[in-house]
Amino acid sequence: MDPKAVAAEKAVEYIENGMVVGLGTGSTSYHAIRKIGERVSQGLRIRAVASSAKSEQLARECRIPLAAFTAIDHIDITIDGADEVDRQLNLIKGGGGALLREKILAYNSKQTIIIVDDSKLVDTLGKFPLPIEVTPFAVELTLAQLERLKGNPYIRMAQSERFVTDNGNLIIDCHFDAIRAPEELNTKLHLIPGVIETGLFLHTPFTRVIAGYADGATQILGA
Ligand code: A5P
Repeated sequence: MDPKAVAAEKAVEYIENGMVVGLGTGSTSYHAIRKIGERVSQGLRIRAVASSAKSEQLARECRIPLAAFTAIDHIDITIDGADEVDRQLNLIKGGGGALLREKILAYNSKQTIIIVDDSKLVDTLGKFPLPIEVTPFAVELTLAQLERLKGNPYIRMAQSERFVTDNGNLIIDCHFDAIRAPEELNTKLHLIPGVIETGLFLHTPFTRVIAGYADGATQILGA
């Protein structure tokens, strides 16, 4: 079995009638959105908001009712993937480039469920490059600041062009190798003008992580 689908299927069980649901981005969230679509076709009544244009499009294809942000005042539950999860449930996210919108949804959700395959569970964050969303203006200067922090930064490319986020910004991927003090690093990164948001998700309120395994088992970490 696909461990990503296993985790996604379990997470979707937490969705109840009447909820406002935040939709994540990426290949694991893909499975969750498809499953939510199935449940909607069977009578589940929800409204959803998406963390990327891609997920919004998929939600439309799955006939999941979408709500405008002007029409909601809260999100009950967000289901999203992650690139790495440590033992304190700190996360690296943004491999798909949607970290800013994902963080806004997670921060404003009563409950966030992170779905991963078991390979994403790590002792220390940092093997996966840390994505940082930055403003395109003077990106070379922002890059130089990240070099000073020993981030070994690279501007993300898509084919031969710079990757552009749904917000019109760029992503710089940093290679810190081992992030032993994520809060300290996050604070330093946010002090750099030009940094809009980082892929470090620390203390996301009410985070529960569901890890899926190829044998169909799941492991639930957190609340
Ligand atoms: C999207 O920007 C990311 O935060 C994804 O949630 C994360 O990269 C996990 O992606 P996969 O589910 O594709 O592994």
